[in-house]
Amino acid sequence: MSAPHDPEVARLGAATRRSFMAGTTAVAAAVALTACTGQGGGPQRAKVSSGDRIGRVDAVPVGGGRVFPKASIVITQPVKGDYVGLSAICTHQQCTLREVSNATIYCGCHGSEFTLEGKVQKGPATADLDPRKIKVDGDYFVVA
Ligand code: FES
Repeated sequence: MSAPHDPEVARLGAATRRSFMAGTTAVAAAVALTACTGQGGGPQRAKVSSGDRIGRVDAVPVGGGRVFPKASIVITQPVKGDYVGLSAICTHQQCTLREVSNATIYCGCHGSEFTLEGKVQKGPATADLDPRKIKVDGDYFVVA
């Protein structure tokens, strides 16, 4: 049985505290990463390939659009039958865009807004959204 003032016990105690702190730091980092990966967040990006389904065509109204976060793609329809595929990653600090409403694509992180064609209409973003190649395949949009 070791006494509390035993140097070996003190060394082991310090090592345990260091391990705990390292574990705590790792957990905090994981929580921070997770917090950034939800809607409006994110460093994690979908990897899509040609032919992958993005979403239903009827989910994209004329004069509006829809964010498909799993594919990291926004599809809009500025004019009937004219679909525009865009990256759903905001060009400001790479959050996933939040929604499309009132003919505007919104980023929920810092308030940037984009036109249905992906042009910046309100900062802080200064760069337009990157285009994404899409096509209609039956009732679905797919990656072209
Ligand atoms: Fe979109 Fe900052 S990441 S406005």
